[in-house]
Amino acid sequence: MEKRKIILDCDPGHDDAIAMMMAAKHPAIDLLGITVVAGNQILEKNIINALNVCQALGIETPVYSGMKKPLMREQYIAADVHGESGLDGPVFGPLHLKAQPEHAVRFIIDTLLESDGDITLVPVGPLTNIAVAMRMEPAIVPKIREIVLMGGAYGYGNSTPSAEFNIYADPEAARVVFTSGAPIVMMGLDLTNQTICTPDIIERMRSVGNKAGQLFADIMNFTLKTQFEVNGLEAGPIHDATCIGYLIDPGCMDVRDMYVVVDTNEGPCYGRTVCDDLGVIKHRVKANAKVGMGIDTARFFDLVEECIRMYD
Ligand code: RIB
Ligand code: CA
Repeated sequence: MEKRKIILDCDPGHDDAIAMMMAAKHPAIDLLGITVVAGNQILEKNIINALNVCQALGIETPVYSGMKKPLMREQYIAADVHGESGLDGPVFGPLHLKAQPEHAVRFIIDTLLESDGDITLVPVGPLTNIAVAMRMEPAIVPKIREIVLMGGAYGYGNSTPSAEFNIYADPEAARVVFTSGAPIVMMGLDLTNQTICTPDIIERMRSVGNKAGQLFADIMNFTLKTQFEVNGLEAGPIHDATCIGYLIDPGCMDVRDMYVVVDTNEGPCYGRTVCDDLGVIKHRVKANAKVGMGIDTARFFDLVEECIRMYD
């Protein structure tokens, strides 16, 4: 089995934590680093959450602290969904793990430049770290094998009717990434909202009976209430985990090549990923992304359970 070398860029975040859990253990993934960005909560809280998940699960991947604020807009967080800590629900012991001294953007740049072009970036939060890395050192772009990101939607948003949170929290950064020319796979809400973790799914993972199963349950139980209150969803989707699922088993998802552009104009569509789903301008512009259209949820949750079973 080919091991995909990845850097997971995240804003833990309940579903980010599940993505971390899967990426750290599955043999198809070589998790080179976890870079953290401001998003669901402020950076300082997201870093603590990332370190707590690593410490609780014995994940030895280095964690790097990244950008504290979006490029242009005022900071926009999702405490209503993820709570005051950014990862409300699980109770962790005293934290001993520390982030690396190197800035996340420096780590992304240096790792890509030193590579053979075989590294996949997996951003599952706002794209600020990725955009700054591209602007600081444009030479990294041809060194990126692929960007598999959670963000956007070809339908409705979840932060506004037009915009999904990861894009809406830093639309200008998203525009940098989508116009970079790097090959992109976009797992948007139309696909990720199909991964809601209802109580039976939570119980299935908890009953695996190890620390990862218990942590999965403690994390996802919290979102049952907030995702209903905020997004009207029956349960919390594990949006970010779909990127890891795609890397491990791409056959469990359908993707379609299309042109995607991020609207950075002030107004009701600010942060919208405008997707040429019908190909009406494909004769004028080249597709720049593979957009997730469908998911075999049964096969996906089997994969989630498989990853959880890999922990002691
Ligand atoms: O819209 C869902 C995305 O926003 C996920 O990445 C979630 O963690 C939040 O960051
Ligand atoms: Ca996230």
